Amino acid sequence: MENSKLEIKIRRYKRGEEKAIWQVYFRSTREVVSKEYTLDQVKRWAPDSNDLTEWIDRISQRNPFVAVVDNIIVGFAELETDGHIDMFYCLPEWIAKGVGTQLFECLEQEAIRTKMKRIFAESSTLAIRFFKSKGFQVIEERVNIVCNAPAKQYIIEKKLS
Ligand SMILES: CC(C)(COP(=O)(O)OP(=O)(O)OC[C@H]1O[C@@H](n2cnc3c(N)ncnc32)[C@H](O)[C@@H]1OP(=O)(O)O)[C@@H](O)C(=O)NCCC(=O)NCCS
Repeated sequence: MENSKLEIKIRRYKRGEEKAIWQVYFRSTREVVSKEYTLDQVKRWAPDSNDLTEWIDRISQRNPFVAVVDNIIVGFAELETDGHIDMFYCLPEWIAKGVGTQLFECLEQEAIRTKMKRIFAESSTLAIRFFKSKGFQVIEERVNIVCNAPAKQYIIEKKLS
């Protein structure tokens, strides 16, 4: 495959890239996350709205890492100062091609560099294999009710010291 020859670069996002990051989030939620949840749930998390004002604010505050291939943002991940990994998404056509692994390595290095004691996240059932392969352990399983339907979530963590 040609894709395997393309270099994946990881860096902090730049102003003006918020819309491209929304596209990654929107498509990943609608096309990948949707395999595990109801349509109403997925639309709640990734609505059709064109108003990206709140999203742009969020991204500028979270300052995510982005994965870039051939000048296209194909994935992004957020690391908060307490070690919480909130959003972590790849474009559907880039799933299982190593983008998530490279983003994760960068997040983990940043967490170690800034002396975080642990990193943690809420994972779906689909993503749990990915996180377990990175050394995370499940500390709690939750079932939230979202749009009148259950939404399973695993609380996972990786200790760093
Ligand atoms: C979870 C995610 C970020 C991982 O990134 P990735 O680039 O696909 O991961 P990599 O290619 O580096 O690693 C592949 C591993 O991820 C696992 N994986 C997780 N979700 C997957 C999915 N939906 N489809 C295929 N593989 C998936 C595979 O099991 C694979 O493990 P293997 O090599 O042992 O088979 C990405 O799959 C994604 O965006 N998923 C949808 C959004 C999501 O669930 N985000 C996490 C919670 S916020």
